[in-house]
Amino acid sequence: MTDAIQIERERGLLTLRLNRPDKKNALTRAMYSHLVEALKQADTDPDINAVLITGSAECFTAGNDIADFIQQPPSNLDSPVFHFMLNLLECRKPVIAAVAGAAVGIGTTLLLHCDLVYVSRDARLRMPFVNLGLCPEFGSSLLLPRLLGHAKASELLLLGEGFSGEQAAEWGIATEALGSGEAVLAKAREMALRFESLPPEAVRISKQLMKAPDREQLRKVIEEEGALFTQRLRSPEAMAALSGFINRR
Ligand code: COA
Repeated sequence: MTDAIQIERERGLLTLRLNRPDKKNALTRAMYSHLVEALKQADTDPDINAVLITGSAECFTAGNDIADFIQQPPSNLDSPVFHFMLNLLECRKPVIAAVAGAAVGIGTTLLLHCDLVYVSRDARLRMPFVNLGLCPEFGSSLLLPRLLGHAKASELLLLGEGFSGEQAAEWGIATEALGSGEAVLAKAREMALRFESLPPEAVRISKQLMKAPDREQLRKVIEEEGALFTQRLRSPEAMAALSGFINRR
């Protein structure tokens, strides 16, 4: 376990805080494993009504740790990152994200699977998978074109164009954009705590109904993306791009 993930319990709310500021909260295998444990706890503990995922007021996450990608790339669906995303997808409790600063790679992808997403207007979101010699992951190749249309999704997924929190809210990727990281966290916490006063079984069934129509298709797409992503990680294109980031200074 690592204190790079801080878990806080406030009444029925479980907050998972990414806390690796020296590396912009880049996610390591150990961090994914810690997040998996927390999500499992949230799912099974009847006294937990909602989960809040956040970083700091300056940075959500720079995505998967690139050194980890080079040294210990996920090789199959049994990797910590896959367990994390599958637990997020399957979580029966509402998951709320509070995002300020950079949200790169999986830091943007995971938002597509949260129930409520609050962002700072100037948050910087980006999915530079192609730029890194990789490909979209965890259902983004299905969900983004559906949400934005093929032409706009192509700008984000093929060119790896970045976008702001304000745009994320306009396009329906986020629930609402707010003025500062502090305001984002306060709003996300306030909305997450509201689940305490709602009947939990009705919340669970309603979330399940909203997710059910896509479940099978999403699983299939995630498996296809995962197989290609793990292959791509070992490709000369990806090795060159990832080493380029590590050696850029
Ligand atoms: N993996 C590992 N280390 C990372 C990282 C990542 N994904 N993102 C940032 N870091 C590290 C940097 O190497 C640097 O470490 P160092 O000080 O030991 O050299 C530190 O975090 C600070 O990063 P820096 O780039 O100097 O910060 P910034 O404020 O200028 O930029 C980002 C922040 C997030 C925009 C930029 O770091 C970035 O683009 N990171 C790569 C993100 C990425 O491509 N992720 C997708 C993976 S699929």
